[in-house]
Amino acid sequence: MRSKLLVVLALTALAVFAIACAAPTPVPTAAPPTAAPAPTLVPATKPTDAPKPTVAAPTAAPAPTVAPTAVPAPLKGELSLLCTPQPEWCEGMKKEFETKYPGVTVNYVRLSSGESLTRLRNEKANPQFDIWWGGPIDSFIAAKKEGLLEPYKSAAHANIIDPKLMLDTDATPQWTGIYVGSLGFATNTKQTALKAPESLEDLIKPEYKGQIVIAHPASSGTSYTFVCTILQIKGEKDGWEYLKKFAQNVLTWTKSGQAPVNNVGKGEGVVGVVFSHDIVAGIEQGLPMKLTFPSEGTGYEIGGMGIVKGAKNLALAKAWYEWALEAKTQELGKKYNAYQGLTIKGAQPPKPELLQVKLINYNFDYCGDNKKTFVDKFSNELAAASLAK
Ligand code: G6P
Repeated sequence: MRSKLLVVLALTALAVFAIACAAPTPVPTAAPPTAAPAPTLVPATKPTDAPKPTVAAPTAAPAPTVAPTAVPAPLKGELSLLCTPQPEWCEGMKKEFETKYPGVTVNYVRLSSGESLTRLRNEKANPQFDIWWGGPIDSFIAAKKEGLLEPYKSAAHANIIDPKLMLDTDATPQWTGIYVGSLGFATNTKQTALKAPESLEDLIKPEYKGQIVIAHPASSGTSYTFVCTILQIKGEKDGWEYLKKFAQNVLTWTKSGQAPVNNVGKGEGVVGVVFSHDIVAGIEQGLPMKLTFPSEGTGYEIGGMGIVKGAKNLALAKAWYEWALEAKTQELGKKYNAYQGLTIKGAQPPKPELLQVKLINYNFDYCGDNKKTFVDKFSNELAAASLAK
């Protein structure tokens, strides 16, 4: 005790001497707090904890246990991503994420919604993917029902524009919305025989027979959104009658929801049923197409994201999840010709007009819960899933 007192006195005398000499250099013990790296990730040592230069109490000596252990290690490893949006966007996001986290490699597979669901189901006992990013939430609701998703609570959920619509309602959600898109019609403008459809009724008219291109709902979330839109607008009984007539007018069933844009652009079919942002992207790339919307109102998607149950690289999956919910990440879409609406407050949507159309009150729970039943009925009674190319 006595010797400590002597040390205090000696240090105080030294400090007084230093001030008297008006030395401009600060007392070394004041420096460490500001020198700690990564201030946004590490709970910062408050500058007010630092001793005032003239006091120089012994407790101001740097404690050996403070800084190094509080700095998280940089992220490292391989993230396995199941990616459902258009390939160009998947590729772009892989690169963006790897730029942000140079220690991480993103390995992704691009699969349509129905194919993704089948993969997750088949791999349930030994999951190969860590996170599923993109594709309408109907399939995420179906996946949740089958126990394929990992609950995860993020502080960023507080930034979601419309949580009732865009976030799983569980206290610890299993999926979240990352974008929004409305269904539209793409009509080839090089042909003059047919006018662009203005209503759902137009699509089942005899003159459109053999002229329509759409994905198959067994593989595609886009196409399933159309099927479920019809069943909601018309009710199930009349809806299935409508779909029967519609199926007879289809020239080609594709696997991917976006593919009809290219078919119609090349004149392989006159009308495509696709998300409107994909049609706009096609027009901007020079395809001869016109976008119209059905007068009855149109269906829309909330694009979803969820961590895969049993993900082998959970820390990386969480890092992707958090990153995908940043406004500036969502704004990256347009760089890759992805013009969806966005779900995070403050993020600027590239084409807000695509959602300022007559939208139906799409019931995602109804469509998600019944997905398997409706798709099986469609495949068994209207068009076999094997027709999809
Ligand atoms: C395109 C759209 C996305 C949509 C996705 C669904 O990429 O731009 O908004 O979510 O298709 O893919 P799928 O092949 O399942 O219809």
